[in-house]
Amino acid sequence: MEFFPIFLNLKEKKCLVVGGGEVSFRKASVLMQAGASVKIVSPELCEAFKNIPNIEYVPDRFQAAHLNGITLVIAATDDIETNEEISNEAKQRNIPVNVVDNPDLCTFIMPAILNRSPLMVAFSTGGASPVLARILRGKLETLIPPEYGRLTAFAAKFRQSVKAHISNSDKRRIFWENVLESPIAEQVFSGNEKSAEAMLLAMLKDNNHCSAGEVFLVGAGPGAADLLTFRALRLMQKADVVLYDNLVSKPVLEMTRRDAQRIFVGKMRGHHTMPQESINDLLVRLAKEGKRVLRLKGGDPFIFGRGGEEIETLSAHKINFQVVPGITAASGVAAYAGIPLTHRDHAQSCIFVTGHLKDGGMNLDWEMLAHPNQTIVVYMGLHGLEVLCSKLIAHGLQESTPAAIVQQGTTQNQRVVCGTLATLPTAAETAKLKAPTLIIIGGVVKLREKLSWFEPDKT
Ligand SMILES: C[S@@+](CC[C@H](N)C(=O)[O-])C[C@H]1O[C@@H](n2cnc3c(N)ncnc32)[C@H](O)[C@@H]1O
Repeated sequence: MEFFPIFLNLKEKKCLVVGGGEVSFRKASVLMQAGASVKIVSPELCEAFKNIPNIEYVPDRFQAAHLNGITLVIAATDDIETNEEISNEAKQRNIPVNVVDNPDLCTFIMPAILNRSPLMVAFSTGGASPVLARILRGKLETLIPPEYGRLTAFAAKFRQSVKAHISNSDKRRIFWENVLESPIAEQVFSGNEKSAEAMLLAMLKDNNHCSAGEVFLVGAGPGAADLLTFRALRLMQKADVVLYDNLVSKPVLEMTRRDAQRIFVGKMRGHHTMPQESINDLLVRLAKEGKRVLRLKGGDPFIFGRGGEEIETLSAHKINFQVVPGITAASGVAAYAGIPLTHRDHAQSCIFVTGHLKDGGMNLDWEMLAHPNQTIVVYMGLHGLEVLCSKLIAHGLQESTPAAIVQQGTTQNQRVVCGTLATLPTAAETAKLKAPTLIIIGGVVKLREKLSWFEPDKT
């Protein structure tokens, strides 16, 4: 180990920064965030300093006397001799010293930090490659979202009372492990601290010190795995059981926890693997067994996804749940097809409908749909495409209205077929498209000729 990692308490301690440029400004700012009282020595100060109040400024060149009463010093001048002098003087007085970009003159170095106060993660390469430390910090940014700061503060609030309640340190560790991986933590993440507090106190009373299960209703987006939200990914890595639909793409499913149990509950046209009521019951049963259940749905769970029905059942059984929105097919597919759903010149409104056929017909408000300057997005419309187009024409839309149908949008298998209300049904049949497909109707479809950007390689 090149350096011994520690965290210093600098509250109200006087710290010296020598130099008045941008780098000094950044160092002074971090010291102030840690509660230090900062003194700057430099003949000049850059603009940035003007906005920091409560800083003691000495408009002078460095002299050894400036170190009197100082707890820690950072040298950030561009003069090597001054930096060496500061380092030597500080070392003689046993004052920790950091000289920017010169590890040989330092008695301490500063890490790249991920600040989730009170949680703090520090990265150091021992001065070998500060850039690498910053890249690694970037990777952890997504894994440790800012809400972890809130969770840390929550844990601190109950640390003493839990200690008083559970004297055995092993049992206490297990208790905290259960809390920090439980619905209590999720309540804190979503800002429901009161409910989290009540749950923690109930768990403390319970001799088992175990928490009940919970359900995460998560939107998996339209297919491309990197269109998931950070929150979706975090919960996917946490769940013990995954219930997923046929619309959830393989790469997305692969991102769930390796050892999680995966249950396919998909619905496909013509054969329902599991009726909706059975899915609702299964969610309840698994959560009551204490499991963290991930209900993973294509797109957004609240858009043609029956997510509302599933959480109604959970709510009736008083099971904790949270809903994570996903990118719905309309936004994802349109973006990847180069078709903006609204446009100042072509569409001032956009409407999402389902084109599901019932007894050979489609139960839609045709008057409301057949408006110019409006984009219509039709989910589940492939089999009713002919009915859809002829009804829209019959209700007043021009036969020449641009229309497109997109198969497996956002994925490497994306296919886009364009035409008009008059030609699209035949064009789609000729192309032998298969579900899932999304239909987009309106003037905006023409923009694809200029805006198309995603053409997956079919070789
Ligand atoms: C039961 S709905 C679920 C919609 C989903 N909850 C959402 O927000 O996107 C299924 C329909 O969504 C559309 N869809 C979903 N993903 C798609 C994709 N990648 N490409 C084309 N259409 C898609 C298709 O119309 C499909 O039949």
